[in-house]
Amino acid sequence: MNTQFELIRQSATVALNDRIVAARAAGKKVIPLHVGDPDFPTPQPILDVALKAMQSGLTHYGPSTGYPDLRQAAALKLKRDNELNYDPNTEILVTHGGIHAYYLAMQSILNPGDDVLIPDPSWATHANMAIMLRGNVIRVPAPAENGFLPAFSDWEQALTPRSRVLVINYPSNPTGAYPSRGYLQKLQEFAAAHNLWVISDEVYENLYYAEKPTSAADFTGAKERTLLVHSLSKTYAMTGWRVGYLAAPARVINNAIKAGQNSITCVAPFVQKAAAFALSDPGIQQSAAEMRAAYARRRQLVLEIARDAGELPVKVTPSMGAFYFFLDFRDLKLPSLEICERVLAEAGVGLVPGAAFGMCGEGFVRMTVAASNAEVEEGFKAILGWAGKF
Ligand SMILES: Cc1ncc(COP(=O)(O)O)c(C=O)c1O
Repeated sequence: MNTQFELIRQSATVALNDRIVAARAAGKKVIPLHVGDPDFPTPQPILDVALKAMQSGLTHYGPSTGYPDLRQAAALKLKRDNELNYDPNTEILVTHGGIHAYYLAMQSILNPGDDVLIPDPSWATHANMAIMLRGNVIRVPAPAENGFLPAFSDWEQALTPRSRVLVINYPSNPTGAYPSRGYLQKLQEFAAAHNLWVISDEVYENLYYAEKPTSAADFTGAKERTLLVHSLSKTYAMTGWRVGYLAAPARVINNAIKAGQNSITCVAPFVQKAAAFALSDPGIQQSAAEMRAAYARRRQLVLEIARDAGELPVKVTPSMGAFYFFLDFRDLKLPSLEICERVLAEAGVGLVPGAAFGMCGEGFVRMTVAASNAEVEEGFKAILGWAGKF
C-alpha cells in the first residue's frame, strides 16, 4: 500500500458530511449551508451548445491539450478580464476542472521532498495534493487578525533550502479574503528573491464584493514563475461539467501535457465546446455577473441579520469574495467539529468545520451563501439562535 495516504487526515469531516447526507436521505430537514457548489443551474445556452456538439458526433476522444478554440477562448478571457497575455498554443492547457489544473501544476514542478508553502486555513486539497505527490507541506498561518493573510515575517520563517513553491488561493476558500495589489506585489518579490514557483488558484476570481481582485500573474516578471489555476465551475455554475485550465510558462505546460495525457486522455469534447462558448459569449458573461450580484445580496442579508441579532458568541467578518463566510466561534472554546455536529443535530443546518482547512481554522466554521435566499436566511438565523443559548 502507498503509505503516503496515511498522512492525509479527513475522517472526521467526511464522517460529518456522511451524517448530513444520511439525515437528508432519511427525510430529515437539513439546511445545506455546507456545500461549495452554486445553487444556480448552468445557463441554458451552454447546455444547448453541448447538446449540439454531441449530436454532431463530438462523443469520441479529443486532443489532450484541449481544442484550439477553447485554448483561444481561455487566452482571450485572460486578456479581457485580467489583462494578461498568454499564448493559447504553448501556455494554456485544458483540464478536468480546477482540481485537475492544480494537480497538473503541482505534478509538473514538484520533486519528492520539496517544501510546499501553503497558508492555513486553505482548501484541504491544496495540502493533500502536495502530500500525495510526496511534497513536504509547510503551513503558514493566515490568522483572522491579519485579514486571513500570512504576515511576511511568517512567509520568511517558513522558508527552508528545500522550498520550491508557494500556493495561494484568492478569493479564498474558506475565508473569502483576498489581498491588496500591494500585498501580491510584495509576495511576488518574495517568491523571486527565493526562487519559488507561485501556484495561484483563482477559481473564485469572479466572485468578489469589494474591488476586483488582481491576478497573481499581473506583475512585471511574475508570469515566468506563476501557474494559474482556473475553472468554469464556480463562475458559470458548471461544477459537474469538470472543465478548467492551467495557464503557465511553456516548459511547465510541456510537463503538464504529459501528466494530463497519461491520467485522463482528454476532457470530453462536447464539454470543451460548451466551455469555449461559456468563456467567450457576452450573454454568458452577463449571466455570471447576475449570479455574482445574487451572492452579493445574500452576503448583505447575512450581514444585516448579524447586525440585528446584536451581541452573540459568534463574530461575522464580512467576506470579501467567493461564496463563504468563515464564522468565528472561538469564544465558545469548542472544537469546530463539535460545533458543526451540534448545529446539525440541534439547529438542522449543515456547516463545515474550520479545522478541515488547517489548524488555524479551529474555532471557525464555514458557511456558504450558495443556497437559496430563504435557506440562507432560515439557516443563518437558526445558527445564531443556537449560538444565543450559550
Ligand atoms: C479553492 C478551490 N480550488 C479549486 C476547486 C476545484 O474546483 P473544480 O475542480 O470544480 O474546478 C475548488 C472547489 O471547491 C476550490 O474551492
